[in-house]
Amino acid sequence: MGVGVVDSGGAVIEVVGAEAVRPLRLAVLLPGRPPADAVYRGDDAPTTVHVAARVGAGDGTGEVVAVGSAMVEDPPWPRGGERAWRVRGMAARPDVRDRGLGGQVLGALLDALAERGGALVWCNARAPARRLYERAGFAARGEVFDVPGIGPHVTMWRTVLTVSAPEPDPGPAAGAHGG
Ligand SMILES: CC(C)(COP(=O)(O)OP(=O)(O)OC[C@H]1O[C@@H](n2cnc3c(N)ncnc32)[C@H](O)[C@@H]1OP(=O)(O)O)[C@@H](O)C(=O)NCCC(=O)NCCS
Repeated sequence: MGVGVVDSGGAVIEVVGAEAVRPLRLAVLLPGRPPADAVYRGDDAPTTVHVAARVGAGDGTGEVVAVGSAMVEDPPWPRGGERAWRVRGMAARPDVRDRGLGGQVLGALLDALAERGGALVWCNARAPARRLYERAGFAARGEVFDVPGIGPHVTMWRTVLTVSAPEPDPGPAAGAHGG
């Protein structure tokens, strides 16, 4: 699903500022931690993209129920060349899970990255979220590793499918010019 689209359940998926994603990021991913922990490195960089699913109002004031972010960051393996993106902070409110909102937020992030260009997108996925990323075309790389206090993770990645530029308008058909 693209950005700014209303899904059949009435959620609006849209690009938002960092301040809109942090409360849910904190509540779901970092419960009990101070709000400052929900500020990620690169959150406010001009290249960073944050996406939220809102319900309850279609005018940007609805409640944020699912979020995700993508920022420019090299993956933890050697590479050269084009820009790499990291997806972070994927979170959905427990009462709205398993309805596709997380997948839609991730899809909107990937759409936004396709417009911005780059070589690859990667993440350190929590093990239970692995299928979310697999459904979006990510593949695992390397062994499962433990993040103390959070649990098993696996690094996942996929290429960025860059949107090709539209064909230039050919103008009036040949022979259509008046003489
Ligand atoms: C990971 C997370 C963001 C996914 O959000 P979500 O809104 O539940 O995601 P989706 O609904 O798109 O997908 C979840 C499941 O719902 C299923 N689903 C998707 N659309 C559906 C629909 N319309 N009807 C029924 N089920 C559906 C999917 O098949 C998926 O199941 P699977 O993972 O077994 O394949 C959410 O579970 C979460 O916040 N988890 C805790 C934090 C976390 O682990 N974050 C990820 C860190 S890497």
